[in-house]
Amino acid sequence: MKLKYIFPGSGLLLLLLLFVHSSFAATPPSVGIATAHPLATETGLKILNAGGNAFDAAVAITASLAVVEPMSSGLGGGGFWLLHRAKDKYETMLDGREKAPLAAHRDMYLDQDGNIIDGLSISGPLAAGIPGIPAAIVHLSKKYGRLPLAQVLAPAIQQAKSGFAVDERYRRMAGFRLKALKQSPDAEKIFLYKGDVPPVGHIIKQPELAATLNALATQGHQGFYSGAVAKKLVEGSKTAGGIWTLKDLEEYNLVEREPVKGNYNGMEITSAPPPSSGGVAMLGILNILEKFDLNKQSTVTQKHLIIEAMRRAYRDRAQFLGDPDFFDVPVKQLIDKSYASELAASIKLDKATPSHTLPGVVNDEEGKDTTHFSIIDSEGNRVAATLTINYPFGSCFVPAGTGVLLNDEMDDFSSKPGTPNAYGLVGGKANAIAPGKRPLSSMSPTFLENDRGIAVLGTPGGSRIITMVLLASLNYFNGGNPTEMVGLKRFHHQYLPDEVQYEEGAFTEAEIKAMSAMGHHLKRMNRKYGNMQAVVLETGKNTIEAASDPRAAGKSYP
Ligand code: DON
Repeated sequence: MKLKYIFPGSGLLLLLLLFVHSSFAATPPSVGIATAHPLATETGLKILNAGGNAFDAAVAITASLAVVEPMSSGLGGGGFWLLHRAKDKYETMLDGREKAPLAAHRDMYLDQDGNIIDGLSISGPLAAGIPGIPAAIVHLSKKYGRLPLAQVLAPAIQQAKSGFAVDERYRRMAGFRLKALKQSPDAEKIFLYKGDVPPVGHIIKQPELAATLNALATQGHQGFYSGAVAKKLVEGSKTAGGIWTLKDLEEYNLVEREPVKGNYNGMEITSAPPPSSGGVAMLGILNILEKFDLNKQSTVTQKHLIIEAMRRAYRDRAQFLGDPDFFDVPVKQLIDKSYASELAASIKLDKATPSHTLPGVVNDEEGKDTTHFSIIDSEGNRVAATLTINYPFGSCFVPAGTGVLLNDEMDDFSSKPGTPNAYGLVGGKANAIAPGKRPLSSMSPTFLENDRGIAVLGTPGGSRIITMVLLASLNYFNGGNPTEMVGLKRFHHQYLPDEVQYEEGAFTEAEIKAMSAMGHHLKRMNRKYGNMQAVVLETGKNTIEAASDPRAAGKSYP
């Protein structure tokens, strides 16, 4: 009685408390961002603070990275943006992958004797596919963002005008590509200083890129794909021996694709569908691993099983994966659990399976640069985006007057089906060059979801992207936080070459001994690889954490 008197509206209060609690639990306590450059992270936060959502922030970060991390992505490149919209849980992937020009053909990188011409698919205008990042910027902003495109692009335009400071990472990559950068007068003018790698602290200003970004901000898609900018891109390419036409640019189309989904012991995985091989290969590996009770095995057996699963999934990648608009990719079959049972049955617990004993002989090449960012906003919207121009500084070619550094994504095709490419690797029919086709990618922007919470992650690293995201996913599954996920020592097997590439510290001396005895060919990498960016929302604890790979110079918030 008394209680009822004191709290006449107790039922209502209880309901209100319940509502506040549940909406609190469903909405993150803060935003989380991790990108490969401090200025890009700051740009994303600025847009969120101005009332933008995660999609606005993703547009702003994409544009900012195009300016301040020019060696990794940019308006001349492509990428995949994996989206989750909180209000209706809608999920999609924006496929802004480059497309082969219409004049491209299967043998375009071969000489008269059918041999691959060194470097042709790596440097200069012939190496470049038609870019998709500008189309994705406009589409993402218009369809999913809340703020006007011009407002969201303003910080990147400003950064292009005022410049950014060269750091050690920039110097290393510019040094690696110095010769090719000097072949393109505009690339040399923008990215070098007195014909050489600029010193640390040198300010790189990009007024022409600012103007191109401005055309995009004011005219939208047409600002890049037709009119003055398109004309300059085509003329610049042609003058230097390229094959781009205005029709190539006019016909570029961004595609929204349904992400691939699967689960591993109750953890849901959402990742990139073809033309990425990432989601399919990762689910293939996890499906195989699910057949073994991994956490009950010794660490040697755990690592052995992971390697054997990688080997099998990468064989399938080489054989079956390519642009789904050109090649019938058997996605359903490849991520089917009973197919994984068949593959798992061929694994011996105490012995490596030599790759040549598996059917089929095709493989993947890898690049050396690219970028990834991860965002969760305060409403629970998520973006995982991996963007690329392929090699450091892409093709090293800038069409005069555009400020746009073109990609060398054509090298992700297999230049000569069935025969080793420039890297001693081979590729299949699924990924042969054809006009208007998208080259196969390994980029794997990914969401993980389980009782514990949600993880948003991804990384650059060529063909090793998939195995990096896989190892980080297993780490999250086992309770790892973002710092552990991005810092994890990595190992990789891609079917061919038949070797386990690993970072120092990935295996103990005892593990190296045991695994060598099982028949694994272990090869320690001379350098660390990857640049992972991860955000984790722990729904139970209602905490959000983010981390940038300690191997590079990214920045995360909080
Ligand atoms: O799309 C791909 O798979 C490659 N072009 C990515 C290149 C890459 O990650 C290079 N990174 N270090």
